[in-house]
Amino acid sequence: MIFYAVCGALIPVPCRGIPAPDPEHEFTIMLIEIPELLNSAQLEKIHELLAGARFVDGKLTAGMAASRVKQNEELALDPEVLQRLYRVVMASVGHSEIFRSAALPAKVADFIFARYQPGMHYGDHVDDPIMGQGPKFRTDVSMTVFLNPPQAYDGGELVIRTPFGEQQVKLEAGHAVVYPSASVHRVADVTRGERLVALTWIQSFVRDAAQRELLYELDQSRQQLLRSDPDSDLTKNVDRSYVNLLRMWAEVP
Ligand code: NI
Repeated sequence: MIFYAVCGALIPVPCRGIPAPDPEHEFTIMLIEIPELLNSAQLEKIHELLAGARFVDGKLTAGMAASRVKQNEELALDPEVLQRLYRVVMASVGHSEIFRSAALPAKVADFIFARYQPGMHYGDHVDDPIMGQGPKFRTDVSMTVFLNPPQAYDGGELVIRTPFGEQQVKLEAGHAVVYPSASVHRVADVTRGERLVALTWIQSFVRDAAQRELLYELDQSRQQLLRSDPDSDLTKNVDRSYVNLLRMWAEVP
């Protein structure tokens, strides 16, 4: 498991007086795409490492409810290959500004590599709330990294239920999507070819999805201002508001 500082604002002590999430608060489902998380050289390396690797039934790693609807295959643990795969993927994840801003990662789990062949799918489910074989962590954000181009398979869309209907995600190889782990989602049946993905789960410094969404949007404006007009009072105000909102809402595990 890897621990990250967040966006240059490492919070030295746990915050006190964090308001409990409001149960009436409408649950927000923010999907954020991360284009080109992996470049073609990294993808090539991953495919090279995965070639000839053994995959096993994905039910072995699913929680009780999820295993009833899960039908895919996951990379069997070959520690040496896995370590090399982690190094390739984690290097990119750690450097992705969009990922850091959207997920505000406190802990990032080791990746799982999953394969769907024709007839495989993963029915409606929410991800397990607590994971980790050693130290436990809460899953706030889920991430899927697409490793095969969309032309390589039919079906296999990641389908996420949102207040505005279902949203289907099927991205270019190397692109990723992050979404709240609490959202109901599924993987549509693969009818041709092979869907290959890397998956991970993140405990965020900000557990509430709506608060993360606000921070993400504010951070977009902040970063734009810091680039275009770094010395203005407007920029300084927006920057301070972002940093102090993060301080107000962050929980340091
Ligand atoms: Ni899932």
